[in-house]
Amino acid sequence: MEVKVFKDKKEASLFAFNYFSDVLKKNNKAVFGLATGSTPLDLYENLCNSDLDFSNATSINLDEYYGLSSDNEQSYHYFMNENLFKKKPFSKSYLPNGEEKDVEKELNRYNEIIKNNPIDLQILGIGNNGHIGFNEPSSPFDSKTRLVDLTPSTIDANKRFFNSIDEVPKKAISMGIGSILESKQILLLAFGKNKKEAIKNTVKGPMDVSVPASALQQHKNTIVILDEDAASLL
Ligand code: F6R
Repeated sequence: MEVKVFKDKKEASLFAFNYFSDVLKKNNKAVFGLATGSTPLDLYENLCNSDLDFSNATSINLDEYYGLSSDNEQSYHYFMNENLFKKKPFSKSYLPNGEEKDVEKELNRYNEIIKNNPIDLQILGIGNNGHIGFNEPSSPFDSKTRLVDLTPSTIDANKRFFNSIDEVPKKAISMGIGSILESKQILLLAFGKNKKEAIKNTVKGPMDVSVPASALQQHKNTIVILDEDAASLL
């Protein structure tokens, strides 16, 4: 993996934006794997303010909480509509359906979508514990889409968005690490001091299921895009 360190989140996000634009300019039917969370917000803002046209492109999101309706303000459906799709509609945008009672059916549906739309560029954030998507520590590196239990540390990190910790969903549907690794290109973004340990373990540590993002060491075309704080232990 290649590591690029920028002065701050703004400069790093600009690099990611230019990279994203180039992929779309080369292929207006490109498939983009998208993440939610605070990390890609500047990238999405840049995309919204650009003159790029995504009307032929496809997006596939990494994950969705299980048990939240898509119009819940904390759902990832809601997040993506607010932060990108309202302004920049894609030809097709896929997210896991967190309301589907038949989980097995939903997992199969999502795996088929990923199989039929190979991802050209995958955007990733990283959890404080090294998770990518909602692939928590000990997730197998060859995993496909599945229902996962969120770890206490992830539930705790997410509680800032809810009225109380009891409201934070305890499960999510997540694209697996195996599917993420099939993306042609990957940009992993991380900003801020609370990501520095996870980044050190991802880049310098052994490739091990205790740090899900370390799986990216085996991917041929991954760029890790950092601000100085996230890079401070490298
Ligand atoms: C979100 C996702 C998660 C986040 C990670 C970092 O779709 O897949 O892996 O990327 O939890 O979240 P933030 O960016 O809020 O620090």
